[in-house]
Amino acid sequence: MRRMLKILMGLVFLTVCVAEAAVAAAKDETTYEKDVKKIIAERCLSCHGSDAPTMEAFKKNEEGFKKANKGPRTDTYANLMVLVNGSSTGALMRRLDDGKSKKDGKPGNMYRYLGGTEQERAANLSVFKNWVGGWTLKRKAEITGDELKAIKALEK
Ligand code: HEC
Repeated sequence: MRRMLKILMGLVFLTVCVAEAAVAAAKDETTYEKDVKKIIAERCLSCHGSDAPTMEAFKKNEEGFKKANKGPRTDTYANLMVLVNGSSTGALMRRLDDGKSKKDGKPGNMYRYLGGTEQERAANLSVFKNWVGGWTLKRKAEITGDELKAIKALEK
């Protein structure tokens, strides 16, 4: 009987540990280093890598780079942030959005690169959404101070 009790107590202890670990993991915030970087490496860098132009260079010859299938570099945190809350504020969100909350329902033109299946695209989009925090499709000229503040996009 005592042995049974011991085993039971052990099980209760284990269950509590597992539950605590799950809560800690859920609290863990989405970051560039931990979650976003690997999706970008796998899904975006073939066209947005270190051989692609900086945003400044891209803007000077957009047509040429489009023809060469190169978009602005997203190979580092700083380069990526240009498209999140920098000179091209909201570009990342507009291009990756699945269109479900828009009137025309059209996804952004980079949405398809998020994955090979609809399930994978949806899963990776939700990582980007959790990372950005205040997901908005607004441009630099339209975005409010509060909306800018709501963009988290943590590096680490
Ligand atoms: C097959 C090549 C290719 C892949 C893969 C690709 N892109 Fe692009 N991307 C482009 C090209 C070319 C442009 C520029 C033409 C345009 O605006 O559509 C572009 C433009 C963009 C822009 C708009 C930049 C601006 O300010 O004008 C964003 C944001 C973007 N891509 C994000 C991504 C993300 C994030 C991924 C990965 C999920 C990705 N792209 C995957 C080729 C690609």
